[in-house]
Amino acid sequence: MKPHVLVTKRIYPEAIAYLKQHAEVDYAESDDGLSADELLVRARDKQGLVSQLTDKFSAAVIDQLDGVRVIANVAVGFDNIDVPAATRRKILVTNTPEVLTDTTADFAFALLMAAARRVVEGHQFVHSGKWTKWRIDLLVGQDIHHRTLGIFGMGRIGQAVARRGRGFSMRILYHDAVCAPESVERELGLEFVTAERLLRESDFVSLHVPLMPETRHMMSAEQFRMMKPTAILVNTSRGPVVDEAALAEALEKRVIAGAGIDVFENEPRVDPKLLTLENVVLAPHIASASVDTRKKMSMMAAENAVEALEGRRPANLLNPEAAPQ
Ligand code: DGY
Repeated sequence: MKPHVLVTKRIYPEAIAYLKQHAEVDYAESDDGLSADELLVRARDKQGLVSQLTDKFSAAVIDQLDGVRVIANVAVGFDNIDVPAATRRKILVTNTPEVLTDTTADFAFALLMAAARRVVEGHQFVHSGKWTKWRIDLLVGQDIHHRTLGIFGMGRIGQAVARRGRGFSMRILYHDAVCAPESVERELGLEFVTAERLLRESDFVSLHVPLMPETRHMMSAEQFRMMKPTAILVNTSRGPVVDEAALAEALEKRVIAGAGIDVFENEPRVDPKLLTLENVVLAPHIASASVDTRKKMSMMAAENAVEALEGRRPANLLNPEAAPQ
């Protein structure tokens, strides 16, 4: 008998087709997602769930997932899932790493460049018919090449951003809970520094840490005050890593010069003050949103679910302790 899988939200059709070859699929084919109650009702007779970052799996929800053997999240981040709670119930949890690394790094760099070189302001200026003459200081911004890039979190995406920084002849500082392997430091010309030094010396600060209790609001008023007044913050990690109200205030008072922000504390809500500022480039959580990557993420999550349901260890298992030994 085929296992039963709930797909909680719309994903790419090839992933649904693949799931259908291996399972009975209950597909919530909408972009709205399921409420917590709907999720629990539809998960009742399922062994597998293919979820997205908007589905919240707290310990209380997980404790009601009788019969579920795997939650396959279509994202590299998994802060929407209480993994220890899943482990206690022997539910495997998987994510979709690697396939989105370069796409996300491209976008972090796009935000960095857009904020530094005032691309969005330039677009709006031309579009609104305000461009009447060339001027020596029209929309002058910050140089990127040969400047200092500070990266918090030197995992896969942090490294991919550093690689792009190298292409722009940047000096690259980083800070993380653990040092990157020496070979990586050497290849990318990285210098490990304290968080404070990174903030004080960087022209651009890019965040690539997971959301955990230790990283929640790691960027707040105090950190902004340590940054250069010409510095630019880029966040493509998770919204709550940055204190959004403090960021809006720092941008408004020009404590820092600008920001490129893809993720927010209470998505899709954005701090109203941020929406009024010209020195921030805002995007709707789309750093991994290339057609190829989003297809690959959908497919990878489907494959992870099938692997688990067919008794094999999924390639992207986050809690091996939950797997049968
Ligand atoms: C992730 O994968 O965690 C991103 O935030 C969405 O692609």
